[in-house]
Amino acid sequence: MDKFKEIAKGKAKSMFTTSNPSELIMEFRDDASAFDGKKRASLAGKGAVNNQFNAFIMDYLGDNGVDHHLINLMDNTHSLVHSLDMFPIECVIRNRATGSICRRLGTEDGLILEKPLFEFFLKDDDLGDPLVSTEHILAFKWMEKDELNLINKELNRINDFLQGMFRGVGIKLVDFKVEFGRYEKNGKKEIMLADEISPDTCRLWDVNSDKKLDKDRFRKGLGNLIEAYQEVARRLDILHEQSNIRPLKYTKPQAVKIKKK
Ligand code: ADP
Ligand code: TMP
Ligand code: ASP
Repeated sequence: MDKFKEIAKGKAKSMFTTSNPSELIMEFRDDASAFDGKKRASLAGKGAVNNQFNAFIMDYLGDNGVDHHLINLMDNTHSLVHSLDMFPIECVIRNRATGSICRRLGTEDGLILEKPLFEFFLKDDDLGDPLVSTEHILAFKWMEKDELNLINKELNRINDFLQGMFRGVGIKLVDFKVEFGRYEKNGKKEIMLADEISPDTCRLWDVNSDKKLDKDRFRKGLGNLIEAYQEVARRLDILHEQSNIRPLKYTKPQAVKIKKK
């Protein structure tokens, strides 16, 4: 499958059309960005690690019945995905308070939350991705009510699966961000997990030392970001050696037919 036209160049990934109108190629670049693009750098190898990481996690969630957009891993930095009508919303799930919630609410850093806290942000860099309520989401029709209900259920399930997966390798899943898109199946609207799940979009702390193994290393200028990502990948058995990434094979449980609106 060849790349046709670049239809979106985000801060860390590029999306390309393909010969199949319902499929896109997602390219993971080495670009790192934080604070809505105010801090940027290029970190050699980040694209490849995140691409493999994302495929591993999507595959794991797929095995557990989560409908996701990944069709297959094409090479080091490219994945083939279903083309979706994306909701302009970033869904953040927090198991502990850290990051922006502490800045906003003055909450104690690292505080364990009794149950996962969901926050929704409008995807708009110019506005600084503002926090929005579910009422805003419905009032401005960014999602339908049934879609929001389904997404809330999926967020709980995804958090459960990922927490268990990371806990098994001595990592606390502190928080993470996911995005969903809409597609049509037999004339019915369905939702699908999209974009990426990787150490760029999660906060991962070592269970004993609380060492940060995620993009906070870049945000906070802690250094050794690739080494930290590789450490997580090694623990999950995605990376066998320093630069030797295990080739993964992906099979989606059921093929979905996607019709763009
Ligand atoms: P950002 O927009 O935050 O700078 P990226 O650099 O990650 O993000 O760019 C990827 C873009 O592709 C994002 O806007 C994301 O919403 C979009 N996207 C992710 N998955 C899909 C998909 N399956 N179909 C269409 N668009 C997608
Ligand atoms: P926050 O504390 O900065 O709001 O981030 C919460 C989680 O969401 C954290 O795991 C990082 C992730 N995240 C993204 O993936 N993209 C973003 O644009 C932001 C702001 C956060
Ligand atoms: N993803 C956002 C950016 O690239 C913010 C972040 O992750 O901190 O600027």
